[in-house]
Amino acid sequence: MCGIFAYTGNKNAIPILIDGLTSLEYRGYDSAGIHIPQSGTRKAVGGVSQLKLQNINSLQGTSGVAHLRWATHGEPTEINAHPHHDMSHKIHVVHNGIIENYKEIKESLISQGYTFVSSTDTEVIPQLIAFYLYTLKDFEKAVFEALNILRGTYGIAVTYENEPQKIITARCGAPVVLGLGMDENFVASDPTPILRHTKNVIYLSDGEVAIITPQTHAIYNLKNIPITKQTEVIDWDVEQVQKNGFDHFMLKEIMEAKEVVQNTIRGRIKINEGLVKLGGLELVEDKLKHAKRIIIVGCGTAFYAGLVGEYMLEEHAGIPVEVEVGSEFRYRKPILDEHTVLLAISQSGETADTLEAIREAKRKGALTLGIVNTVGSTIARETDAGIYNHAGPEIGVASTKAFISQLTALVLFTVFMGRTRSMNISVAKEILNEITTLPDKIEKILLQKDTIKSIAEKYSTSRDFLYIGRKYNYPIAFEGALKLKEVSYIHAEGYGAGEMKHGPLAMIDQDFPSLAITLQDSVYEKMISNIQEIKARKGKIISIATEGDRVIQEYSNDVIYVPSVHEMLSPILAIIPLQLFAYYFAVTKGLDVDKPRNLAKSVTVE
Ligand code: AGP
Repeated sequence: MCGIFAYTGNKNAIPILIDGLTSLEYRGYDSAGIHIPQSGTRKAVGGVSQLKLQNINSLQGTSGVAHLRWATHGEPTEINAHPHHDMSHKIHVVHNGIIENYKEIKESLISQGYTFVSSTDTEVIPQLIAFYLYTLKDFEKAVFEALNILRGTYGIAVTYENEPQKIITARCGAPVVLGLGMDENFVASDPTPILRHTKNVIYLSDGEVAIITPQTHAIYNLKNIPITKQTEVIDWDVEQVQKNGFDHFMLKEIMEAKEVVQNTIRGRIKINEGLVKLGGLELVEDKLKHAKRIIIVGCGTAFYAGLVGEYMLEEHAGIPVEVEVGSEFRYRKPILDEHTVLLAISQSGETADTLEAIREAKRKGALTLGIVNTVGSTIARETDAGIYNHAGPEIGVASTKAFISQLTALVLFTVFMGRTRSMNISVAKEILNEITTLPDKIEKILLQKDTIKSIAEKYSTSRDFLYIGRKYNYPIAFEGALKLKEVSYIHAEGYGAGEMKHGPLAMIDQDFPSLAITLQDSVYEKMISNIQEIKARKGKIISIATEGDRVIQEYSNDVIYVPSVHEMLSPILAIIPLQLFAYYFAVTKGLDVDKPRNLAKSVTVE
């Protein structure tokens, strides 16, 4: 969702703000805007490249706020672009979130003579601050008064012309992180734009307000009472948020799969003892021993990782598992108690639907865990315990390496849980041994990227694709289809191969190719029958097959091979060719794969 960024210091603010917006662009690109107190505002429909065309270098100043919008209220027009201002143009606000009571605030202000220019919910914020400023004559007090009226979600940064070096920021349900530098301070929706300036950060919690100047930062609750917060040091490097020679972040991140697996397992496995050490779960180990069921919650790709986790945990840890999308979980009546574990999976750690599921589970007494990539994110902080992915920052909107690390973390969690239950040491050792073979096997798949590229090019005129799989690779069919949909805007459906004959087979003809995950595992024979059914209807088959399987060629138009591995780990390999296929397919169409239309990386609205 939208990205906010703010700077106050002694350097020229323009390049710093533009640079910050550029690295935040995966959060939204419907419009972009920048405001420098006492100098001016520039806005543009589209992303940072459009904003740069707005004569931004004629602005001057050493502080300012900037914004990238993912439209919720109001069309993506210039007038609706942030920063928004009050009638006197003295207060400027950038906002990520949704103000739920904006209509009543707007009506009340209009009845008192205020006029509005945009159709956004955000515009009420500067107007309300101005309303209080008029009577209180104090910028800070006016912001506190206004914040106490707002309902909904916000991560905001506010500037005031009369105090140009001061920025007030506040958080309620949308992430805000402060970056603390030498004679300069920053505000951002996530640490990415801050990293190149400082690694010292403070994550605001809901209901917290921070006031920064170049030399100072102070944090308060909404009642204006000072709070002490710890500074954290980020361990990500600047290089990790750059493309490093790749054309797109998506390709760079797929190509990082090998290191991602290594980083997720590093220091966590004890092969000889058949044990997994997960420091983040130590405090809840006893509760986990007595857990009776696990509910996995996630959205999009994280949900599909959860579906794979269900197969892993039920088969090898012997514990009942249900998987649910975050957006549905709290709208039914989930039955939860103290023996239920809710495991939330989220790359960003900020997904609103997943977060609300966690809160609902907590209210009902369940133990909450997270598999989260972003250290210090809201989900990481609000869950009782968890496992960090250690995948490094993921910038491409389409999740790739985070999915690999989520699956790897789920393998570790399965062994961890299994060893407190029915899993014996030899099974654990076998799985852990196999997990160490993954990096080399991944490398072998990545080396085939040019072959996958030519297959993607060969099918580039197809308008529909079917993805099929069974058992562990049934969710991989969904994830493969999601990747193609989001970066190519092409119709792709994931289906359980066994379900084809119950309906979807009717769609198949020579123009409707299928990607079939047909590995030599416990469902191999069944998959072969399913792809034969497609072949018999003249459907084209691209198989993801096990290295050495020559028979598969008989039934397939094209084959991409992956090395043989323990069945439970096979989704980690099978998804990689599908990610590369989606990537090259979209590139062939000339699309911006890192910023697919209508999407944003971190979905902080429900
Ligand atoms: C994946 O490619 C998507 N862009 C999306 O489905 C994503 O996985 C989902 O929004 C969940 O995000 P999270 O992992 O940050 O919670």
